[in-house]
Amino acid sequence: MWAGRRVVLGVSGGIACYKSCVLARRLTEAGARVDVVLTRSAAEFVGAVTFESLTGRPALTSLWEPGRALAHIRLPQDADLILIAPATAHLLARMAQGLADDVLTTLLLARTAPVLMAPAMNDEMHARPETQANLERLRARGVVFVGPEVGALAEGPSERPGRMSEPETILAHAARLLGGGGKLAGRRVVVTAGPTREPIDPVRVVTNRSSGKMGYRLAEVAWERGAEVVLVSGPVALAPPPGVTLRRVETTSDLEAVVRSELPRADVLVMAAAPADFRPSDPSASKRSRIDGAIAVPMEPTEDILSGTRDLRKAGSIIVGFALETGDALAKGRSKLERKHLDFIVVNDALEPGAGFEHDTNRVAVIGRDGTPQILPLQSKREVAEAIFDAVERSLG
Ligand SMILES: Cc1cc2nc3c(=O)[nH]c(=O)nc-3n(C[C@H](O)[C@H](O)[C@H](O)COP(=O)(O)O)c2cc1C
Repeated sequence: MWAGRRVVLGVSGGIACYKSCVLARRLTEAGARVDVVLTRSAAEFVGAVTFESLTGRPALTSLWEPGRALAHIRLPQDADLILIAPATAHLLARMAQGLADDVLTTLLLARTAPVLMAPAMNDEMHARPETQANLERLRARGVVFVGPEVGALAEGPSERPGRMSEPETILAHAARLLGGGGKLAGRRVVVTAGPTREPIDPVRVVTNRSSGKMGYRLAEVAWERGAEVVLVSGPVALAPPPGVTLRRVETTSDLEAVVRSELPRADVLVMAAAPADFRPSDPSASKRSRIDGAIAVPMEPTEDILSGTRDLRKAGSIIVGFALETGDALAKGRSKLERKHLDFIVVNDALEPGAGFEHDTNRVAVIGRDGTPQILPLQSKREVAEAIFDAVERSLG
């Protein structure tokens, strides 16, 4: 996503400047060329040397730096994105007025690239009509904002917006601004993720090893590509990606009900969840005790979600299933693709090292309707998610 991208990172003088260092670092690590431009106040918080060390490029602090006479024109016209974090109340006011009284505002006035701003300020400063009017004016001119959020401020706790969004959230919004112009833009994508849990008694469950990582990365990628994303998640220990609507479920039956309600509006459904295939047929109302000795738990099959909801699919929608198999995965995957009338099936072998549940990596084959597998190398689940949506986007009309 970021490799080869040219980003101007504008930093104005707020306490959240320390998070700008993380942004500079992450973007550089991801392969972007990052040019940092500081206001005079920002340089009071974090020096240019810090940013130069993090990006490997000289940071700009003045219009009058020797040898960089036209940087304020070239940088914003050569960039893929101008990211301002933090954006102070003062910077918002200057930009809304169209001022060009330092290197950052001059560069903003000369811009041709899209601008994403992450405001950060005291909650009272943010609530002020002057600031709200400035935000509105800039929004009307096409500036995109991320945050501010409710949360602790340097001066203490707050219940109102003011705190700058975290770097991960800002980067996700930046990615959506840059990468959201493809075929997924504006489409509704439903991704299911994680395991389900089926009760044996009030305290015990039958579940599986699914971590949800694959589904969460899929939701993240779809949102960054401009989709409206509903993430239907079983119980997992992961933070939902920015921007997605999270619907939590517990059992396979819950999952089926949510898929049933979402499917008629979904342009794409990706079933990356690992719902339990069996559930205890008669869960005990009270906790079963060891004193009673060995127990047998009769199991019954759960709902077959993909087959059972077939009639609800929106015309022209793309349905992607997953098949985690042990042995002969491709043949089993092809058979599932046919049986469940899918557009794609993503197949992996649970016994392969580095693939399947719990890992951060996966090795999968993506099979489309013609049955030919696209065999992907062992790679991160994020990269696998990118490849799956590449295939989905190619097949979207
Ligand atoms: C310790 C400290 C923290 C500050 N934090 C913020 C802040 O978070 N947001 C903000 O809008 N202004 C903050 N200010 C005020 C700005 O630094 C001041 O308005 C300055 O003129 C901003 O200039 P700039 O927008 O050119 O960077 C802070 C000032 C100090 C001294």
